[in-house]
Amino acid sequence: MSITAQELILNLGDLPPLPQVASQVLRVSADPEANVEDLRKIISMDQALVSQVLKISNSDMFGRVRKVTTLTQAIKTLGFSTFKSVVIASSAKNLHHCGTMGLQERLIGEHALVSAMASRAFAKSLRFPRIEEAFIGGLLHDIGKSVLVVKFPERYGALLRIVDHENGVGLDLELETFGFDHAMVGEALLNRWNLALSLQAAVRWHHGPVHAHEPHRKLAAIVALANHLALEEKAGIGNPSQVEEASLQAREILKVSPEALVDIKESVRAAIAQDRALIAEC
Ligand SMILES: [Fe+2]
Ligand SMILES: [Fe+2]
Repeated sequence: MSITAQELILNLGDLPPLPQVASQVLRVSADPEANVEDLRKIISMDQALVSQVLKISNSDMFGRVRKVTTLTQAIKTLGFSTFKSVVIASSAKNLHHCGTMGLQERLIGEHALVSAMASRAFAKSLRFPRIEEAFIGGLLHDIGKSVLVVKFPERYGALLRIVDHENGVGLDLELETFGFDHAMVGEALLNRWNLALSLQAAVRWHHGPVHAHEPHRKLAAIVALANHLALEEKAGIGNPSQVEEASLQAREILKVSPEALVDIKESVRAAIAQDRALIAEC
């Protein structure tokens, strides 16, 4: 028996606030009307974020000739869409404690970025119109794990080791141990952050997209496919077989044949390989 969202918050205590810049970046990035200048202004307020974005823009994969020293140049070099992804990924690093903690946290951070890139590439291939939203959904789908790591370092750390070494099913173990799972925690957190309902639904149902409300089901399905592919790529903790069912559901929701999925996955893998510099910085 799972618990209600309110009971969940009571159990977890205060949830971390979303850093102001990250919140604005997420909001502007998901807004199709937003323009380059809106985003540039927000990032300029955070010097650490500016230098992270410039560092990534200067990494080898973008093949530019001259060194990128300003945000305006970075936008020109990367293109607005990639630039937005770089910014989102950079501002989300703090959320995933990238590079500051142990191996488990690093794996969670790497999984988030690979899933984000995969989500975006799946969205493009499947002509899902809200590409940045897919990226953000992929990035945040397991944010509940980061919360659990912080709130229950020993119990959740031990649980992750079981999932990793004994191939246990993470969600069931979480429900048994805490009475809720990381998808429910993630939904509560995105709700607390006032992020879009579609993103809340994608996070809540990335392990069972058929359960998402109709308007949000495709986004949840794209994130489910991305999650599966990230585990196939060995980015993160867990085994792809644990999320096989979610991936099957996603294929049906998106009306993709198994043969077509093989081709789509090829292009998604190629896209991820190109974007790999985003993770190298993690
Ligand atoms: Fe998950
Ligand atoms: Fe995941």
